[in-house]
Amino acid sequence: MNTVTALPELRAARRSLSGTVGFVPTMGYLHTGHISLVQAAMAECDHVVASIFVNPTQFGPNEDLAKYPRDLPRDLAMLEAAGADLVWTPTVEIMYPSGFQTWVEVEGLTRPLEGEIRPGHFRGVTTIVAKLFNAVGPDKAYFGQKDAQQAAVIRRMTKDLDFPIEIVVCPTLREADGLAMSSRNTYLNPGERQAATVLFCALSAAKSAFDSGERGAEKLRALVRKTVSAEPLAKLQYVSCADYDTLEELETVRCKALLSLAVYVGKTRLIDNFVIG
Ligand code: PAJ
Repeated sequence: MNTVTALPELRAARRSLSGTVGFVPTMGYLHTGHISLVQAAMAECDHVVASIFVNPTQFGPNEDLAKYPRDLPRDLAMLEAAGADLVWTPTVEIMYPSGFQTWVEVEGLTRPLEGEIRPGHFRGVTTIVAKLFNAVGPDKAYFGQKDAQQAAVIRRMTKDLDFPIEIVVCPTLREADGLAMSSRNTYLNPGERQAATVLFCALSAAKSAFDSGERGAEKLRALVRKTVSAEPLAKLQYVSCADYDTLEELETVRCKALLSLAVYVGKTRLIDNFVIG
């Protein structure tokens, strides 16, 4: 496995890969969820390129950029074991040299949900992903359903900017008790880790109501609210039952919908979602 940092080195290494290239962008502190994206890329492409970059522009001023967990040696060992061919670990100076002033912004889809709570977040995500796409030039790029709105926004950007890249969205990998894997789970103390299963429980409660015939979106949201409020360490930030494609809130679930929520467990903010219908 080849690990590079400088942009010219990345370009040279990319040119030496023949056949199709699958790309997995990450912020590191990898877990099995990230590795499942590498495995999906391995299965569909001749070569796999991954990137590790904690992108400062997608963190708000009061968010966890400074304490975001990092362990590069461990990440590289995991990527090598998974079979990645090339890993790009650029620095902040490489991605945002002084004088940087060009941004990529997707409009409507970034307004609700995470976009409403985290202003500027998606502008940071789309700008860095566009730069990563330009540098790596993959045939396919792999994202997790865990960050459903991010995947939708990147799909829109790829279409709108004519990137010749197929966006593949892979299922959310979960711990045995249902908690979605996330680098941020490491912030949880043992009591909070236990309480964090409330996200999965709340989504499961709404999903089983949907499976038993409930189609009222507000009824489903109310079930999520009720489940989360029963957990003393958890505080619901939002719950949404929205159209899967437009992310507009629904009154009635008639076709594919995204049921999503953001919850504070102690000081840690967690998100999760189920697709229903
Ligand atoms: P990061 O949070 O490191 O996630 C990298 C990729 O892994 C994303 O596509 C995310 O959806 C996926 N992922 C995270 N947890 C997952 C899980 N439990 N199961 C399956 N996939 C999972 O998302 C980012 O980084 C950044 O915003 C990035 C796209 C790299 C741009 O900076």
